Amino acid sequence: MARSRPKTQKLKVLLRHAHIRRRVRQIARQIERDYRGESLHLVCILKGACIFLADLLRELRLPVSVDFIAVSSYGKGSLPSGEVRITKDLDQSIEDLHVIIVEDILDTGLTLNYLYRILQSRKPRSLKIAALLDKPARRVKEIAVDYVGFQIPDQFVVGYGLDYAERYRNLPDVCVVPAVNQ
Ligand code: IMP
Ligand code: MG
Repeated sequence: MARSRPKTQKLKVLLRHAHIRRRVRQIARQIERDYRGESLHLVCILKGACIFLADLLRELRLPVSVDFIAVSSYGKGSLPSGEVRITKDLDQSIEDLHVIIVEDILDTGLTLNYLYRILQSRKPRSLKIAALLDKPARRVKEIAVDYVGFQIPDQFVVGYGLDYAERYRNLPDVCVVPAVNQ
């Protein structure tokens, strides 16, 4: 009996793992230059940024600590305020630390805009953002991102930590899912 084709074959590769790893290494070198002589605290936004964090972390030759925060955006940024609910807060205070928020993808900008304001109010010594992917075409709220891996077209992507209904996070490449209404 012929085996049915795995669903992943419908996905189109946008960014290969090796290409992503090279770009992550470049970002790490840039961060090392910017924070020379300092300690750095990475705040990973769960769950999508976990693979980016893991790769970035292992490339950084700096004293570095990590923490995790999880948010749920009420119906994918449907509120004009862009308000998001923190479903898991940081374990540690960020007061007086050099913090970089590590995010998988910047889409409308609502999530990062809101989180940035919340974390800024906790008085870090500095606060920057690193996003692996950026979809500028869908921006609703402007937000300055300090480190960007790749700008990508207005398509729904999965893999390298990103999901579609919790699937595909384990794919090594970033792939486009055809026909997803964002
Ligand atoms: P924003 O608030 O619209 O910028 O949404 C950012 C969040 O939406 C990201 O952290 C992702 O979890 C999710 N997201 C946006 N675009 C995509 C995509 O193409 N694939 C998977 N998740 C996405
Ligand atoms: Mg997600």
